[in-house]
Amino acid sequence: MPETSPRGLARLAFGGDYNPEQWPETVWQDDVRLMREAGVTMVSVGIFSWALLEPAPGEYDFGWLDRVLGLLHENGIRVDLGTPTVVPPVWFYRDHPEALPVTAEGVRHEFGSRGAICHSNADYRAAAANITTRLAERYADHPALAMWHVHNEYGVPVSACYCDSCAAHFRRWLATTYGTVDVVNAAWGTAFWGQRYASFEDVNPPRATPTVGNPGQALDYKRFADATMRENFCAERDILHRLAPGVPVTTNFMTALSQCDSVDYWAWGREVDIVTNDHYLITDGRRTHVNLAMAADLTRSVGAGAPWILLEHSTSGINWQPRNPAKAPGQMARNSLAHVARGSEGAMFFQWRQSRRGAEKFHSAMVPHGGTDTRVWREVVELGASLDSLAALRGTRTEADVAVLWDWHSWWAQNLAWRPSEDADARERADAFYEALYDRHLTVDFAHPETDLSAYPLVVAPALYLMTEAAADNLRAYVENGGTLVVSYFSGIVDEHDAVHEGACPGALRDVLGLTVEEFSPLLQGESVRLTGPDGCGLGGDVWTEFVVPRGAETVWTYVDGLAAGHPAVTRHRLGEGAAWYVSTRLGQEGLDALLARAAQDAGIAPRADLPRDVEVVRRSGGTGSYLFAINHTAVDAKVPLETSGTELLTGERAAGRLAVPAGAVRVVRLDG
Ligand code: GLA
Ligand code: ZN
Repeated sequence: MPETSPRGLARLAFGGDYNPEQWPETVWQDDVRLMREAGVTMVSVGIFSWALLEPAPGEYDFGWLDRVLGLLHENGIRVDLGTPTVVPPVWFYRDHPEALPVTAEGVRHEFGSRGAICHSNADYRAAAANITTRLAERYADHPALAMWHVHNEYGVPVSACYCDSCAAHFRRWLATTYGTVDVVNAAWGTAFWGQRYASFEDVNPPRATPTVGNPGQALDYKRFADATMRENFCAERDILHRLAPGVPVTTNFMTALSQCDSVDYWAWGREVDIVTNDHYLITDGRRTHVNLAMAADLTRSVGAGAPWILLEHSTSGINWQPRNPAKAPGQMARNSLAHVARGSEGAMFFQWRQSRRGAEKFHSAMVPHGGTDTRVWREVVELGASLDSLAALRGTRTEADVAVLWDWHSWWAQNLAWRPSEDADARERADAFYEALYDRHLTVDFAHPETDLSAYPLVVAPALYLMTEAAADNLRAYVENGGTLVVSYFSGIVDEHDAVHEGACPGALRDVLGLTVEEFSPLLQGESVRLTGPDGCGLGGDVWTEFVVPRGAETVWTYVDGLAAGHPAVTRHRLGEGAAWYVSTRLGQEGLDALLARAAQDAGIAPRADLPRDVEVVRRSGGTGSYLFAINHTAVDAKVPLETSGTELLTGERAAGRLAVPAGAVRVVRLDG
């Protein structure tokens, strides 16, 4: 069995992508000296090195990598060794131009960037297997090897290819999945617009069409493309497992990046030995620490709650957004420790030394262009010491209060064309509900809608447009057995083929919610509606309204105006021992808070009035004890009540009663007992 934490790493992971090939060897000595100064424990090496390792077909040069790994080992630094299969060398494309991916419009990408790969291409697969085998044969027993890093960020920048090899591969995938083409015809509803297929041979990828193509085909192509990338990951992983038994294998995820919407991380989480994630702050005006917390929770959840590793984030600014601010003093440590609070066994960065050339030279690094007499470097050294003092929490698990349902397949389906409103954005609702829960100081586990939810008093479904019968049965049983469920609009509408469930909407959830929806009535941009509710509590909604007809549910808030005036806007249905809430409009943060306050009451979750907004409190517990993280994202000193006394690990001080957390600071208390 492969290990589930980096081999030989007795501390938290601290380090980054180390790309020594960008520098003369004289710099390497300086690198390891500085790594020791900062307390670096692990680095990722070789992710983009194929062209150096195999300069011509079948000609290998491992000398430089031998020297790098030797140097790291002598200095006590563990290695997360990359398979370089995300960028094949230019000679490979010269021999196999058809391995370059093709867009839906039929344009073939060129060499000269990264990730230009058709994952169905047999020559690419063979070449990737070969270089992976060579690396594994050479380094399986290397004393520095802690784990394998396969490829890089599957799913970006190319999430699907539409070439002829992919077409043939897609047909094979369909034949395996469906058996006969008539089953495909039924699933996709090809009777509509006369799209019936007589044989698998006629089926193509969903290439550019004059108007909207078949949604079932488009959805299955997302599944196929995801499965194809996963096949290639598993092929490399199996080689590594065979040649280096026991050494864990990972590939770096990007769980919460909305640009990376093509990977079903529930499925990937089951295939890796250690879940690892990359996270960058998206500076779109929202509170970046909330998206960070969401990414961390989602990452932990796709690994079924097990500890994971933050493999990349940034010391300061990044360089791929339109505007890339630097991090404020202390922000890097807060970011890093917030990931650790939510289950990461360390904090790593892209990258160790800031590049002078290439596309990412303006991306921050652990060693900036300015060297060590810089704020970034001083904060890096400080973070190394902080992480060193937290080593004991390895193996503990983050405690969650509530579950949020999330399904990439449903997101894919809802994003297809020709929906009632393009403003009904699944990801936006997930973010908004997450933020409302965060503001109530509730820690979130994400869950697939078909998994056992009985451990959670409250389950929230912000957007589950696609819902299988199995998921519907699961949610019904959850509520009947005493759970509290909150469902937001446009959920439970279609099955796994994007076919509307039979009967009135929301077909999968009618009986759970105790209502039907006669018509959707989305609002125009800028339009909003008012709701009236308990104790005269008025709320507002926008984007979406519906004509809800209660069939067992009680009305809690009602539309005051708009086409849905007089219809229920928020309902509650008692079912068995539990309750199912439904909200049929897009509530703002105030509305979500009012709704969640009531649902939390049903669920028996007491509100926490003793914590200021933006003071994050999270617990990890397990083998070595219980650890309370308090992260102050505000500019004001805060006090966090402690149930039991303990030792604050970053300062070494005793803590009891009310824990002082200075503005912008983090405190981690190992609780007594
Ligand atoms: C990704 C990649 C890295 C680097 C960083 C920059 O996470 O994996 O190679 O490009 O982004 O933010
Ligand atoms: Zn292809």
